[in-house]
Formats: sequence, structure tokens, C-alpha cells
Amino acid sequence: MAEVATLDIPVAAPLVTQLMALWTDAFGEWDQDSERVLAGSERGQNFSMVFVGSADDPVAAAAQTTQSLRAPTLGTLGSVATWPQYQRRGIGTAVVAAARDRFFADGGEALFLGTGNPAAERLYRRLGWDRPHGAMMVTLRDADIAPDEFIADYYEGTRSIVTIARGDAGARACLPPLAAAPHPWSLRDANVLLQSVHHAPVRACESLLVRYERLAADGDGAWFEGRDSADRLVGVATARLLATGECRIDGFAHVAVRDGILDLLGAAKEWANERGDAIVADVAAADVGKLALFERMGIARPQPIDPIDTEGAALAAVRLAAAR
Ligand SMILES: CC(C)(COP(=O)(O)OP(=O)(O)OC[C@H]1O[C@@H](n2cnc3c(N)ncnc32)[C@H](O)[C@@H]1OP(=O)(O)O)[C@@H](O)C(=O)NCCC(=O)NCCS
Repeated sequence: MAEVATLDIPVAAPLVTQLMALWTDAFGEWDQDSERVLAGSERGQNFSMVFVGSADDPVAAAAQTTQSLRAPTLGTLGSVATWPQYQRRGIGTAVVAAARDRFFADGGEALFLGTGNPAAERLYRRLGWDRPHGAMMVTLRDADIAPDEFIADYYEGTRSIVTIARGDAGARACLPPLAAAPHPWSLRDANVLLQSVHHAPVRACESLLVRYERLAADGDGAWFEGRDSADRLVGVATARLLATGECRIDGFAHVAVRDGILDLLGAAKEWANERGDAIVADVAAADVGKLALFERMGIARPQPIDPIDTEGAALAAVRLAAAR
């Protein structure tokens, strides 16, 4: 087995340079704000660790885990890469196994990841990851529990949204189970092109938070998180200022929250009211429940628009608008 070292955050500058070189080579343009995270930008929100596998090069392979401080049973694994010249020697497997074992030793119960690389998926499957409904991959500390059962148990007793706040990186490890929980809508959020994971697998490592952070990064968008009485993330809403001057709102919540989604969308609408000339919502034509929901908010009068292109497929869609 290859030797694996663990690095606490903040990671020393020379190692940051080596890690960024590896990840940029593996993933091309690396826009996940890793450098900032390695320097400790999420320290109040998440517990992150980096695992490096060495060969001749001390950073021949790496992976990173993020454990949510507000929900420490949940975590994400990402940034898994081995330099091409060191691949197929078992180093990737050793790094991922070390990351998984440390996460479970630290109280973690469910470690999520997204991947579109079949070779990586084989590696994860050998180490215990599964893909419930073809969504995110997850491995559980308790191997006797099925992923669907874990997700159902995790949200046991959730009924309503009790706090609404601007979203932040603390949601990183809370988003995957919410996205993997059963939900009827095919398009969860047009602003972050989040299709239902039951219709399209999540491919990129840690891609969910990145979508929301990108939305808010340039000031033309915002996102809001809804939590229940047990501080579980149960819904996310977004607002995006469009080039037309209109502001588009959207969002989804766990099915058990029912009408609570209206309050969360209300937060996005408030943000949108202050910035956009008009409020619109783009909805997949098949999502009749969502159309009805927006209608209750006074956002109606569906007009056909071009299909919405998500990772999974092009979805026939309509644009709703609030009465002026
Ligand atoms: C996916 C990735 C991390 C795997 O790293 P790796 O260090 O090559 O992983 P391993 O060596 O442990 O396993 C890879 C394969 O080599 C095989 N292998 C392991 N040790 C071996 C050895 N000594 N001799 C021959 N083959 C070996 C494994 O069985 C596995 O085989 P498989 O492809 O048939 O499943 C690497 O290919 C990579 O960086 N890819 C690009 C980035 C990426 O997609 N990352 C995943 C993001 S989610």
C-alpha cells in the first residue's frame, strides 16, 4: 500500500502550490476555490482535511474531505487525482481509503461524492461507495444500511423550515443528501441548472456547492438556505439577475417541508424585488406542482421558452412572470 500523509488546514504554501498543480492538471480549469479553502477560508463552517499519497513525488496523488460542522455525520470527498505517471499503482486507492477511514473515525457516517469518470467510479465502488437512484455516490459507516434508508432516516421528523439565511459554505456537505432525497420535480433550480439527481447523475466532484457559490460570486445572484428545527438543511432558493434586467427566482425543498418552500422562495423574491425590473421563474413544463406553487406566489402566465439544457437532457420549459 502506498504511503498516505494527512494535511490539516491551513496547508503550508509550498504544498498548496503542489496540490494546485496536480488538480489543475487533472481537472483543467480548477474553479472550486480550492486555494482559498486550503488557506482556511471555511474553518468556521467545515472541517476539511487533505490526504496525499507519495511515490518519488511527495504529492503523487491527493484527495480532500469536508465534514460539516453543523452536521458532522455528513461529508464530501473530492479533488481525487493521481499524476498520470503514478497512476495504476494503487496510490489513488490508498488515498481514498485513508480519507474514508479518517472521516468515519472522526464521527462521519455518510461520505458523498460526484463523479463522471468510470475508472474513478470503479475505484470508489471497490471501497464501498454506491449510487442511490444513480445520484451522488455515497459510502456509509454502517455497511448494513442502504443509502436510501440512511437518507430517509436522516430527514426523519422534518416538517418545516424554521430558519432562512443567506447560504454559505457550511452547506457544502449538507447539499448532497438533500439533492439525493426523493423529489418529484425534474428541474430543481434553473438558476444553478440543477436537474433532479434522479433524472441525471451528479458528475463533478463537490459540484453542488460550487454551483451556488458561482451564482453569488459576482453579485448578480444570491442563494438562501432553509433549515429545520434540528438544523438540517431542508431547502435552497436562488435569485439571479438576467441580462434582460429581469430577476429569476427558483428553489426546491425536501418534500416533507411542503408549503415551507414558499417562505424560502419569498426570501429569494425579496432579494429579486430590490434588483430586478421584473420577477420571472423558468420551470420545466412537466413540473406541474412547481407551476402551481409559483402561481400561488403570483408568478404565472406561462410562456414557452427554449428548452433548458442541464447536464442530463434538454427539458421543455416555460417562463412565468409576476404581475407588474
Ligand atoms: C481516478 C484516479 C484518481 C485513479 O488513481 P490511481 O492512482 O490510478 O488509482 P489506482 O492505481 O488505485 O487504481 C486504478 C487502476 O489501477 C489498478 N491497479 C492498482 N494497482 C496496480 C498495480 N500495482 N498494477 C497494475 N494495476 C494496478 C487498479 O486495480 C485500478 O484498475 P481498474 O481501472 O481496472 O479499476 C486517476 O485515474 C485520476 O487522477 N484521474 C483523473 C482525475 C479524476 O477523474 N479523478 C476522479 C474525480 S471524481
